[in-house]
Amino acid sequence: MADIQTTSAALPPVIIRRSDYRAPDWLVPEIALDFTLDAQSSRVRARLSVTRNGAHDRPLRLDGDGLVPREVLVDGRALNAADYALEDGALVVPLTGEKHVVETLVDISPAANTQLMGLYASGGLLCTQCEAEGFRRITFFPDRPDVLSRYHVRMEADRKLYPVLLANGDPVGAGELEGDRHWAEWNDPFPKPCYLFAMVAGDLACNADSFTTLSGREVKLGIWVKENDLPRTGHAMTALKHSMAWDEKVYGREYDLDVFNIVAVADFNFGAMENKGLNIFNSRYILADPDTATDMDFDAVEGVVAHEYFHNWSGNRVTCRDWFQLSLKEGFTVFRDQSFSADMGSPPVKRIEDVRALRAAQFQEDAGPLAHPVRPESYMEIGNFYTATIYNKGAELIRMMALMLGEKRFRQGTDLYFDRHDGQAATCEDFVRAMEDGGDIDLRQFRLWYEQAGTPRVKALLAHNHASGEARLILRQTIPATPGQPVKQPMAIPIRIALFDRASGKHGGDTLLTLTQAEQEFAFTGFDTPPILSINRGFSAPIIVETERSQDELAFLSAHDDDPFARYEAMQQLMVNTLVGDVAGHPLDDAPVIAAIRDTANDSALDAAFIAEAIRLPSESYLGDQMAIVDPDAIHAARDRLQAKIGKALEPLWRDIHARTEANGFSLSPQARGARKLRNAALAYLAGSGAADADDLAFDQFDRADNMTERQAALAVLSNSSGEKREIALDVFYNRYSGDALVLDKWFQTQALAFHPDIVAHVKELAQHKSFTLTNPNRVRSLYGAFAANQWAFNHKSGEGYRMVADLIIALDPINPQTAARLVPPLGRWRRFDVERGEMMQNALKRILAQPGLSKDVTEQASKSLA
Ligand code: ARG
Ligand code: ZN
Repeated sequence: MADIQTTSAALPPVIIRRSDYRAPDWLVPEIALDFTLDAQSSRVRARLSVTRNGAHDRPLRLDGDGLVPREVLVDGRALNAADYALEDGALVVPLTGEKHVVETLVDISPAANTQLMGLYASGGLLCTQCEAEGFRRITFFPDRPDVLSRYHVRMEADRKLYPVLLANGDPVGAGELEGDRHWAEWNDPFPKPCYLFAMVAGDLACNADSFTTLSGREVKLGIWVKENDLPRTGHAMTALKHSMAWDEKVYGREYDLDVFNIVAVADFNFGAMENKGLNIFNSRYILADPDTATDMDFDAVEGVVAHEYFHNWSGNRVTCRDWFQLSLKEGFTVFRDQSFSADMGSPPVKRIEDVRALRAAQFQEDAGPLAHPVRPESYMEIGNFYTATIYNKGAELIRMMALMLGEKRFRQGTDLYFDRHDGQAATCEDFVRAMEDGGDIDLRQFRLWYEQAGTPRVKALLAHNHASGEARLILRQTIPATPGQPVKQPMAIPIRIALFDRASGKHGGDTLLTLTQAEQEFAFTGFDTPPILSINRGFSAPIIVETERSQDELAFLSAHDDDPFARYEAMQQLMVNTLVGDVAGHPLDDAPVIAAIRDTANDSALDAAFIAEAIRLPSESYLGDQMAIVDPDAIHAARDRLQAKIGKALEPLWRDIHARTEANGFSLSPQARGARKLRNAALAYLAGSGAADADDLAFDQFDRADNMTERQAALAVLSNSSGEKREIALDVFYNRYSGDALVLDKWFQTQALAFHPDIVAHVKELAQHKSFTLTNPNRVRSLYGAFAANQWAFNHKSGEGYRMVADLIIALDPINPQTAARLVPPLGRWRRFDVERGEMMQNALKRILAQPGLSKDVTEQASKSLA
């Protein structure tokens, strides 16, 4: 296979613009694909029925990436090479009539495909990943989401190497062939864009089950994994069945094929993929058992299984017109999976976790050089736009609409959306209009959320008039400038508030305000004394709120706020103020923080999981986000000091919690999970306190744990330590799990996230470790992704962290540009640091950009990061 893909990087980067959208020139109502599979070289014959779309005389243009046509036939007649053209990898065929049958034949090499886009080999399997533009690496086709086709797929392969042959839709035939080969045929009755095409061949075992839909149809469910992994598929299967029932109940959406298959693969560029009837997953989001997966991993399996399943309606039945509309399916589907997980577990804890993730990833993105709107205006490489903004901020937009509409009208809106656009390739605008028409609401100003990048800041001032008993809330919004958007318009921001009476600790009701102007005042009456403001309750809008609440008022809310998110937030703000004050050299009294933590931990009305969230110190990077210039060393030191103080001041409490939360026997019940979370938090405070026996306690927990949640948390504590137990534990862990890739990822990740004085040297050594490899994206992320997220370590003043990550990006780019590009954004944060660090980061970016033959993926991220 000639690899002509890399030559395109030498050309000036092409910018694709949303405003340039044009309907496809040719439609492809039917496609028949015939695969002769082999890891080294697979043959792909494609027969496309094409029809001219509208009156025009433009040729048929079929995208291709690295493909060489061996045959091109039109209506059964072979063309000479002079009768077609190859432009930028695409096959251009002039056609005269309204309808034709176009056939092509290509050879591709799955084994040589290290990018993991298109058809590739992973641990003896052959599998595909097509979203966004991988299908063009398999066959010539109009690779855009608004060309929908019925697929008929024939696969032929060696029977021993590839006994299982799967594709989209329903199986329609299979048989034996000479020479130990066999074949299978699959037919997908639902027209779909090519990014949803999938195929898998391999030696797989199946966890088989079934689900009966609301209307009584029986669906055969299969989760396909390597034989050894079969015992670890139970949680995913349960999650799948729960998801199917939930989507019927909450959105009225039933599954539509007779089979639903999921395959787990070890080498995968991201989480998972919603291919019609054949989801393909990164194995880390399928496999889980107590010995190898943490409680967080169990939740991630449940959430991602649900996410991909929900795409069957929000993504597949209604797909995207073009990639600028990506959030149409991703934002909505993230919102759906978040709601599902909340319903399966604890809604408050889920909300806290989701907001923490939003702030960590999306707020940082929105504040930097890669900020872009939820519906972007342009891109060079669409692979770079699978971002926290598209996914997580997109989900917040849906959540705000759901909040403003209320449950019943939101459901009317989604019903209308699905009915109106079933079978279509739709836009974000279509979604908003369905909300307006179905839910009876005016969203004209709200649409700005799709257009304007940047996290809005809302300043809240509360004034009280003793004489009139009036409280006036003044809200001021500003939206920061972002690349290409220097000036912003005020947005419609739904903000839930409550005003607390100091004496009773109660409020008179929760109010939903909609801030629509740059500055607006809201008046409330009946307050003899100044009330305390609880604002953005439930995190009703994805904004940064600035208030002038005192430490006393925050302490009050930490104890009394009946909105769990607001209560958590008050506690976080209390800690943030203390820590930021310390870094800035104006230390506040830590007594209120310590008291709030003590009272929260002792509050028997609260569940353990919530307590564990509420007493947790803000992360170093969140603290950095609160400052004009990030001082990673000062932040690290201040956080360490506060942790030590809390650890020492409440040492008996931590010892008590740690002892009383020890379970005898593993359970996945919410109580047991909450106890583990709280136990790990207590251990971390004990370690932070510097107690002489902290390492022993950690090692004992590490040694005796019957589950990964406690074992990994103990390993994390020991990884920070300079004592002798650190290496012992790391060796024990490595040897015990050396055959398990997913657990080895944790071994790398835990060390890369550690707060150890020699962290930079440790990461450098790990990169040379025999178990480290550049070809497995999970392994790369577990070491370098974690390291780059460790603010203190990555931003080491020597610049060693920047150098290491730049070296990695340069080495990985020719192998897997998509994964390499994902590591660029941490280097793009140079404006947030001091001049010395900033220069070293820019130099790292310049060195990356100077590499000859750099991919479009990394070129886009690095050049935008420098601008
Ligand atoms: N649609 C998939 C999901 O959200 C992710 C596909 C990611 N593709 C990419 N090129 N990054 O479940
Ligand atoms: Zn998705």
